[in-house]
Amino acid sequence: MHPTSTTRSVALRINGTPTELRVEPRVSLLDALREQLGLTGTKKGCNQGACGACTVLVDGERIVSCLSLAVQHEGRDVTTIEGVAGAERPHPLQDAFVRHDGVQCGYCTPGQICSAIGMLAEHRRGMPSHASAHPVGQEPLSRAEIQERMSGNLCRCGAYNGIVDAISEVAGP
Ligand code: FES
Ligand code: FES
Repeated sequence: MHPTSTTRSVALRINGTPTELRVEPRVSLLDALREQLGLTGTKKGCNQGACGACTVLVDGERIVSCLSLAVQHEGRDVTTIEGVAGAERPHPLQDAFVRHDGVQCGYCTPGQICSAIGMLAEHRRGMPSHASAHPVGQEPLSRAEIQERMSGNLCRCGAYNGIVDAISEVAGP
């Protein structure tokens, strides 16, 4: 995109790399990632906050990037599915999704994995959910609690059993 009077400069880190974007203020983080940076691992499903396909991590917290403007993220750390693992080996959740058949067409998978990373961190911090027993964070995550905490991520293939199995394994006892 050529700089124009309507574009803004945004300096942030994407997957650990300092990055400068020039975007119009109306451009979503999702569109900036996909169309300007070519990071097409982050998927566009509904583009209105309902499906979770576009989930990324911002400063370690999961967000739906379709409902967030790129200009809001000055100075922040954005992690997409391309950045969740090192070059040598997959993230443990990626490995578990494959082994537990948590992937069918794969369209929801990047969002599921980014969301699960953020969700497990929320649980470790003691953040409650509607399905939480008390005290939060001191007992293993039950299947019901994983289902509730991941309810913002839809899977049109219906691979939910494998998705919950994979997250349960990584969450541990
Ligand atoms: S594309 Fe963002 S929630 Fe569906
Ligand atoms: S694996 Fe196809 S939408 Fe989830």
